[in-house]
Amino acid sequence: MSQTHHARSNVIDLAAHAEQLPLLPTVVMRVLALDARSDQYFEALLAVAEEDPTFAVRLIRLANAPRSAPAKPIITIRQAVVRLGARECAGLVTALAVSRVFVPTTAGQRNLWRHALQVAVGARTITSLITNPGVLPAQAYLAGLLHDIGRFVMFEAATEDLGRVDEAPWHSPQQLIDAEHTLLGYDHVQLGALVCRHWSLPQVITEVIKLHHDYAAPDAQSSVPLGTLIAIVQLADLLSMYLMDSPELGDQEPVDIAATLAANCMRPEWRHPPIAPSVLAQRVGAIRDEAAEVAERLLDARTTSTT
Ligand SMILES: [Fe+2]
Ligand SMILES: [Fe+2]
Repeated sequence: MSQTHHARSNVIDLAAHAEQLPLLPTVVMRVLALDARSDQYFEALLAVAEEDPTFAVRLIRLANAPRSAPAKPIITIRQAVVRLGARECAGLVTALAVSRVFVPTTAGQRNLWRHALQVAVGARTITSLITNPGVLPAQAYLAGLLHDIGRFVMFEAATEDLGRVDEAPWHSPQQLIDAEHTLLGYDHVQLGALVCRHWSLPQVITEVIKLHHDYAAPDAQSSVPLGTLIAIVQLADLLSMYLMDSPELGDQEPVDIAATLAANCMRPEWRHPPIAPSVLAQRVGAIRDEAAEVAERLLDARTTSTT
């Protein structure tokens, strides 16, 4: 009982902290509010990105990354958006904005960033491989990027808590939740839910944040696209947990990757797994490499282009 009381008071303390949190940059809210299906999406995204000169600089750097390998260097933001694709840019603008609020200073914090980007890239890739998912790849990217926002908040409100949890041995999402409860008396899902309210994040993103550790949730949703999106983020999360420990998975033969995915990342609670392990196996190396490249550029861009 005392533990329950402890847990409750901690969450209440954090709710108070949440009131003092930095506001999520308005640029994130504006990107989240854009309609990715609209014909004007490209121009609207361009307008948001152009408004802040530092975004222009960083996006141009990302567009010139080796993976994009432009024949001629990209020098304008319009070229960058064309090169990267408007939908990918929406994710990058959001990541850049969030990286200003949650500045990583420790190895654990940098790992959290790598994980968030891996889940974002993974969720977008999985969505693009599904026929008629009812979810846009750009939406999956944003949901993946923000799914562990509760852990990011520990950066600001409870830095020591994040350190204590990172020192504990955990290798799966459930072990992480258990470690948080044991060490802190609350978990990052509870904290994430508070943050969503504080920041008035869109409903769909909020649901993913609240339910991303509840593996029965995808089938329980009355909205099929929302259930699909939750399962996609859960799968990308499980894949990233595995890749963070064993990045060499991406170099194995697809048949071996598929066996590992089936054994470690596919939850028995899902009546309809979002994708077959054999299909996802073909892209695991690409997910790992793309996320690593964006993480490197993003974290590097943040620390070196502040002037
Ligand atoms: Fe999580
Ligand atoms: Fe996660």
